[in-house]
Amino acid sequence: MSDFPAGFQFGVSTAAYQIEGAADEDGRGLSIWDTFSRTPGTTRGGATGDVACDHYHRWESDLDLIQELGATAYRFSISWSRVQPTGEGPANAAGLAFYDRLVDGLLARGIDPLVTLFHWDLPQALQDLGGWGNRDTAMRFGEYAELVGEALGDRVKLWVTLNEPYIHLVLGHVLGVHAPGQQLGLDLLPIIHHQLLGHGLAVSALRRVSAAPITLANNYSPVWPKSDAEDDQTSAMFYDLVQNRLFTDPVLLGEYPPIVEALTTADIDSIVLDGDLRVISQPIDALGVNYYNPSLVGAPLPGEDLPFHRAETIPGYPTTDFGWPVVPSALRDLLVTLRDTYGEKLPPIWITESGCSHAPVDDQFRIDYHADHLTAVREAIAAGVDVRGYCAWSLLDNFEWAEGYDQRFGLVHVDFTTQERTRRRSFDWFREVCTSAAPRP
Ligand code: NOJ
Repeated sequence: MSDFPAGFQFGVSTAAYQIEGAADEDGRGLSIWDTFSRTPGTTRGGATGDVACDHYHRWESDLDLIQELGATAYRFSISWSRVQPTGEGPANAAGLAFYDRLVDGLLARGIDPLVTLFHWDLPQALQDLGGWGNRDTAMRFGEYAELVGEALGDRVKLWVTLNEPYIHLVLGHVLGVHAPGQQLGLDLLPIIHHQLLGHGLAVSALRRVSAAPITLANNYSPVWPKSDAEDDQTSAMFYDLVQNRLFTDPVLLGEYPPIVEALTTADIDSIVLDGDLRVISQPIDALGVNYYNPSLVGAPLPGEDLPFHRAETIPGYPTTDFGWPVVPSALRDLLVTLRDTYGEKLPPIWITESGCSHAPVDDQFRIDYHADHLTAVREAIAAGVDVRGYCAWSLLDNFEWAEGYDQRFGLVHVDFTTQERTRRRSFDWFREVCTSAAPRP
């Protein structure tokens, strides 16, 4: 692993609702994930993030683990409703102080804080006003970004505005299996556009108060058509636009891919107002890439009630506990495709997440996963793609959303009864990777 470019960073990622717990402490307001997960029948076994990894109380020893790992970057997210309990107005000092301590604690350990502003836990009070369906939420997000930027902007090393807005759209607003549990059919443009506008307004706000580089973290999945048949090819093309370009073209190119017309029942001009795309497409300094697996896509079968595509199981690859196929070469292909698609408009890339769910502590599977994905990243770099860092998802086993605590992504195993942390074998392996990395020039 020592043949990564000098300064390439190895890190780990987490998100607030998945690890913090302390859901009712220090003035934290409700988020949509509190509401959703406390509603019976929404998560596996009724799991909630009320306690999660209890990281809110154990943050110091968790940061010690990152230091022991030798990682130079830690990507975490801020709980908006901890900082602004109702999503607007002055900061809740106790909430903000937690992140202040966290950032200082990281710097004291020689670790760069990479800070995500929105990892799906919208303040419930904003949801009550329409959530991302309401244009005002984008304005509120800009204000929240400014507030956090003012408090932490002198020390944060990379801002990540949104995490996976596409997944938040599909799981939260189409399938209804994530918070806020909506099923909006094909009336999706407000949720798409207001997240993107929120991103743009957050970029403007952060530029005013912080010199740190800014990105957003999108999920990408190379799309493989099921066959050469025209309908399979068409479905795959459609899916690729939605999955891989809907939240990237507006940011990097200043325009929506043509598919957007199929995702709204309303007049586009009533939602996308003059000047919005300029706000959304202002330059960013990096593109965050979350990668887990490719997608095999075909046309819906006759009589099947699917909007435009059918996701197929990909045979012939190892699968994670989640059943996701492990295809490292698709990460290399994805990175090269991003470069070929966006050319000079593509800023440097950060792999903001990659990882697998695999329960055993003796986890050769996870070692192979990360080793092979790092090889794919190196191949992309050799092919001329500018990749600056790789954050493994995740430091700790944590609350895997609707799946509760059963899907374990951590380099560190967590016993959720005792909160005991146990380093997996992959932790020791990743430490070798981190500590053999060439130092920053
Ligand atoms: C991406 C999401 O950002 C993260 O929250 C989630 O845990 C991982 N995927 C694994 O599903």
